[in-house]
This record gives sequence, C-alpha cells and structure tokens, in this order.
Amino acid sequence: MTPSAALYAQHLETVQAAVEDALVAARTAGLGLRGVVFHSGGLRTFHADDIELPFRPTPHFARLAPVAGPGHALLVEPGRRPRLFLLAPRDYWCEPPARPAHPCWDALEVSVHAEPEALRAAIGPRPGWAYVGPDPAWAAGLELEAAAIEPMALLAPLDWHRAYKTDYEQACLREAARVAGLGHAAVRAGVAEGRSERELHAAYLAATGLLDHETPYGNIIAWDEAGAVLHYQTKRATRPDPGRSFLIDAGGSSWGYASDVTRTWLRPDAQGVEAPGAWRALVRGLYGLQEELVQQVAPGASFVELHAAAERGIGALLREAGLLRVSLDEALERALVRPFFPHGLGHHLGLQVHDVGGRQVTREGAQQPPPERWPHLRTTRPLEARQVVTIEPGVYMIPLLLEPHRARGEPGIDWDLVDALLPCGGARVEDDVLVTAGGRENLTRPHVPASWEP
Ligand code: GLY
Ligand code: MN
Repeated sequence: MTPSAALYAQHLETVQAAVEDALVAARTAGLGLRGVVFHSGGLRTFHADDIELPFRPTPHFARLAPVAGPGHALLVEPGRRPRLFLLAPRDYWCEPPARPAHPCWDALEVSVHAEPEALRAAIGPRPGWAYVGPDPAWAAGLELEAAAIEPMALLAPLDWHRAYKTDYEQACLREAARVAGLGHAAVRAGVAEGRSERELHAAYLAATGLLDHETPYGNIIAWDEAGAVLHYQTKRATRPDPGRSFLIDAGGSSWGYASDVTRTWLRPDAQGVEAPGAWRALVRGLYGLQEELVQQVAPGASFVELHAAAERGIGALLREAGLLRVSLDEALERALVRPFFPHGLGHHLGLQVHDVGGRQVTREGAQQPPPERWPHLRTTRPLEARQVVTIEPGVYMIPLLLEPHRARGEPGIDWDLVDALLPCGGARVEDDVLVTAGGRENLTRPHVPASWEP
C-alpha cells in the first residue's frame, strides 16, 4: 500500500512540529539546539565475521523517511523543509536502495550520495545540532558537542510524541494488521491439517510476502507444550504429536510500522486429538476475557488497572477450570495467578513492536515504573486518544514457574490437573487497539477473527 501524499504531508507537519517542540524542551533544560541530524544507522557484522546482521533503521529516522538500507541522514530544523541525505553506494556487491514508492520522496528535499564521506561533507559541520542514531562516531566530522549526542532532554520529548499516532501512522498500522491477517489465515488452514511449525512458518511468510527479516519480530509458532515458552523461537520440522493446542504470535509490517497478533487454536475432537476439557474451557474463557479488556480501552483508562483486571479475570478462569482451589481474593493475595500469567497485559505499538514511551508519564521524560508485583508490565502511561496498544492476556503451564510452588506442596493448586494440562502449553490472544476520542478501534479483528478453532 502506498500512503497518500496528503496523509503523509499532514504527518510530516506533525512530526516537524514535534521536533520543534522537543527543541524547545531541550532549550528549557539548558541545551540550546538548532536542529537534529537523524541517522538511519550503519551495518554491523557478526563477531569476527564479515556477514552482516539484518539491518533496522533508527525509528526516529524511519518515522519520516522509510527508505531501505543504512547510512542515510535526515536533517530537521525549524522553519525549513526536512532534508534527506540518501546513501546510494556505487557498489557491485550490493544493490543500492531503490527510490521508495512513498510520498516522502517528493515531500522531503532529497540529495543522493555515492560515498559516506561525500554524504557527511554535504551535511557539513553542524555545531549546535543534535545527533540521534546508534553511531556517534559517524557524527564525528559534524563538529557536534558531546552533550548533543542523543541528549535525554531532546529524546524524551521525541519519544513522548511518538506515542500519538498521526492519521498516516494509523493507516500504516491498519495495513500492517491486514498483512498479518493474510499470514494468520494461511497458518490457520495448516493447523487444521496438523502441519509442522516449520511448514506453518513458511506458509505465513508466503501468504504475507514478507521475508523472515522483514517480519516485525521472530514469529512464534508453537504446538502443544511449546506454547508455554513465551518467546518460543524453535520451529520444529516434525508434524505435531498429538497437536491439540496451537499458538501463533506473528505480525506484519507496513512502511516500518508493526502489527503484533496472537491466536490460540484448539483442534476439534473430530480429529481425535481433543485437548482436555479444562484447557478448552480456559482457552474459550480467555477469548471472552480479552474481548472484555479491549472494551475497556478508552482515553483516561489506566493500563495498570487493566492489567489488574486481566489478572483477576485469569484467576477466575483458573478457578472455574479447577486449577485454583482457593478463593479468587486469596489466590490474588498470595500471588498464585502470576505463575500462570507472568507477563504484562500489553505494550505500545508503532515503529517498534514494544514501542517507546509506554512508561513515560511526562514530555520531559519522567518514568512511572510498574508496580513491584508486575515488573514485566511495559505500560504505565495513562491511555490517550491516538495511542496504540496491544491487549494480550495469556494463560500458561510453565514448569519453571510452577515447580517452586509444587516443591513446597502448595495446596491451592490442583497438581493432578496441572500435570494433565502441561502438554497443552500456553494460550494467548492478542489484538492491536487504537485509542480513539470516543473509545477504541480494534485494528486486528477486521483481519483476524477471534475463534478458538482452526
Ligand atoms: N509479540 C511478542 C511480544 O509482544 O512480546
Ligand atoms: Mn505483543
């Protein structure tokens, strides 16, 4: 999808204003700056090797200039059209970056350079400017002051503004959700046939048209007990046996913007591989709970309270399934739900899957850490319109987290039932949700249905 020039023009204006506001904030903090050099970053190699790691541009650069490849720079200053310095090396080993089919090409002032040194020379000395990027050494020739290399007084407001997605960004995020939908549909069909994790991963890539390094994060494609490994990275080549419960966490991307989508599917009993009833009840309940939590996303809502509601809801499901044998209040009080739900309810989403600013509560950079009992919660910032967050409750049978409770003979947990459910692994349901003035828009549901059967 090529975004419209009008949408991008509006986006450019908003981002330019955000950079100007960040410069004002930096000045207030005692750091006078004239403008910002955003650097896309350079290539890095594996240790003691000449093979390059997959490249990702600096997100603050990609926000305005989603062009492929390393070595580019973007200069933004008040009152002037941003300038893109594009590196297109004359090199017979690698293809130079193609002109992107994106309106940034006409909206920015673009110059193309064949050598990194020529590109830096064209930028010229920039005393009084800031550098944002991963490689301060690259900026050495620009005569920047040491204090102007990624200064917090500038970065904090830049990160702050990134949480508010422009209409252009919302369009990209919707498109990223659509792309993920293509992959999820293909995998769902393969799950019904009991295909291997590796086959399903290949089906995902084929359906989305993404290469492995173009997915926003490594696909999580897990049969049975592997679903309990939160970021399960292996992709087994063998067909599942028995293949009862399946978890996919896989996203799409569009002009650098990500989607992040998880579904759990249970194969029906017709195939003779039905999961235990308690697991089926948990998974169905999880879909209902996730939907309820999504409905609570709205401006002014507290994500910390949403997480508390998620933990309570999962506790209730665990009790109904018979896994917890104490009252819900006692289970919460004694932290018996946490081994079954050991991650945060969600995170901000944008150019990064775990986007910046989720714990930032002021433009100047004050951070609100999560409550001590939920150290993994990435979002403490109150929800506001134009933010995009994931809502991803899950329930897991994780031996590593359950064993200490078993070892001390915890009577509040039904250990026979735990043993029966360990082979089912884990379940998670995740949608991407845009906060709107009137409530929310679920970006994922139009493209990935909420169904626990493949
Ligand atoms: N999709 C993986 C995660 O959010 O951590
Ligand atoms: Mn996620």
